[in-house]
Amino acid sequence: MIDIKNVSFSYDRKRSILQGVSVSFSQGKTYSIFGPSGSGKSTLLALMGGIITPDSGEIWINDHNIANLDGRLIRRTMVSYIFQDYLLFPFLTAQENVEIAREISNPHENNGGEKTRKLLNELGINESLLRKQVRYLSGGEQQRVGIARALVTGNPVLLADEPTGNLDKATANDVMQLLIKLTKEYNKCCIIVTHSEMIRSQTDYSLLLDNGCLKQVETNLK
Ligand SMILES: Nc1ncnc2c1ncn2[C@@H]1O[C@H](COP(=O)(O)OP(=O)(O)OP(=O)(O)O)[C@@H](O)[C@H]1O
Ligand SMILES: [Mg+2]
Repeated sequence: MIDIKNVSFSYDRKRSILQGVSVSFSQGKTYSIFGPSGSGKSTLLALMGGIITPDSGEIWINDHNIANLDGRLIRRTMVSYIFQDYLLFPFLTAQENVEIAREISNPHENNGGEKTRKLLNELGINESLLRKQVRYLSGGEQQRVGIARALVTGNPVLLADEPTGNLDKATANDVMQLLIKLTKEYNKCCIIVTHSEMIRSQTDYSLLLDNGCLKQVETNLK
């Protein structure tokens, strides 16, 4: 699904952030990436979404070298982000936040409203919550909306940058269980940057980014 081939990157050509990183991520699998602050984890996610481009090497998603694609097309059709601070529209309802993503990704879909409602319900956002402006929702509820927004698109890849970083331990665990369960159900490739060992133990693979290099350290696949 995603093939990163010998990718190197620096912001200023002085300090190298990634040095010849090669890794593959598969459909229907979950991955966690951890490593020291400043090691380049968010940078790696930005490269996969075509927000920044590698100095050398290639990133392929579903047989497309993304260097040849417009970044907006990559984010509309291939890659969705889930952010630590949710980044929802505060004055829109939960359902409207998800509807916007669905409309951008799939404007001609019949029964789109029903699809977003079902997905939000699956994430524990009930009928009364989904009609509330998201500024009135708790952090855990807002992140469930963020996950629904990422899942509602047809995009095969979900990139989550410390998605439970602002949540207490119990809520983080609930939200993460849902993210992992639905990622599997919807057959997405999900890559989660996290400092949490609890989350690392729940993903199929765990990778360490350190000194510009990424290596697999653990697999929880039986
Ligand atoms: N736009 C930018 N311009 C210049 N340097 C940057 C830019 N963004 C990040 N950096 C630097 O690149 C390095 C890697 O940053 P990045 O945000 O990818 O780290 P991270 O592993 O996500 O860290 P954290 O765990 O703190 O989120 C850091 O030293 C950071 O200061
Ligand atoms: Mg980061």
